Amino acid sequence: MSHIHIDVEHVSFSYESGVRILDDISFHASENESIGIIGANGVGKSTLLKLLVGLNLNFDGSIRIEEVPVEKKTLPKIREKIGYVFQDSDSQLFMSTVFEDVAFAPRNYGLSEEEVRRRVDYALEMTGISKLRDKQIYKMSGGEKKLASIATILSMTPDIILMDEPSIALDPKNRRNLIRILNSFDHLKLIASHDLDMILDTCSRTIIMAGGKIIADGKTEELLRDKELLEQNDLELPFCLQGYHPR
Ligand SMILES: Nc1ncnc2c1ncn2[C@@H]1O[C@H](COP(=O)(O)OP(=O)(O)O)[C@@H](O)[C@H]1O
Ligand SMILES: [Mg+2]
Repeated sequence: MSHIHIDVEHVSFSYESGVRILDDISFHASENESIGIIGANGVGKSTLLKLLVGLNLNFDGSIRIEEVPVEKKTLPKIREKIGYVFQDSDSQLFMSTVFEDVAFAPRNYGLSEEEVRRRVDYALEMTGISKLRDKQIYKMSGGEKKLASIATILSMTPDIILMDEPSIALDPKNRRNLIRILNSFDHLKLIASHDLDMILDTCSRTIIMAGGKIIADGKTEELLRDKELLEQNDLELPFCLQGYHPR
């Protein structure tokens, strides 16, 4: 396998309104790092993830995924390397059953039916939902849908996984299960979230964003214990460091 890495250099981005959402963002990520992207609502976490996977291409600066620049003509290649898990599972799942959804991308990619089945089995096993293989999507719980969404990207065997607010709307048991599953992956992961307890449990490195910029980039254990730094950026200590533990 080639050396897995992401290089973001001097990236700035505005939507049509012209307001600069990302302002000169640079970072490097590699191999099996797990990186939390945190910051107040509207700071541009989701926008940054979308840029990495080429959902918005009119940015300034450069984004390279394993040396491949993110641009229109490289998108098929980029999407083989990166799997993006949407915040809203209903945006990810559009077929009628789990099997159909998880098989969709590899089928679309032209793989043999035998290989497609092998990929689906692998993805369902990795997410612990083999028994939901034939379940109808509309009958599934939020937690099940989130795992199925993750399985739809694993079936393309990405090197890199991007997740936008994966724990949002999960009950505590499903949330713990998600954390366990994320920790079992050795992919390069970028997780945007305001669930700082989950970031503490899943990411060794954290990037704090504010005002369109990266304010801090370092060890999660250090940044998420820095009450002053967090408060300056409209964040709070994780609950588990506020003196009580959510169950
Ligand atoms: N499609 C869009 N068009 C215009 N503005 C947008 C769009 N998506 C997000 N924004 C704006 O960009 C800013 C950053 O949004 P977002 O990346 O979703 O932040 P976060 O994920 O950190 O909450 C917000 O001000 C939001 O309103
Ligand atoms: Mg967001």
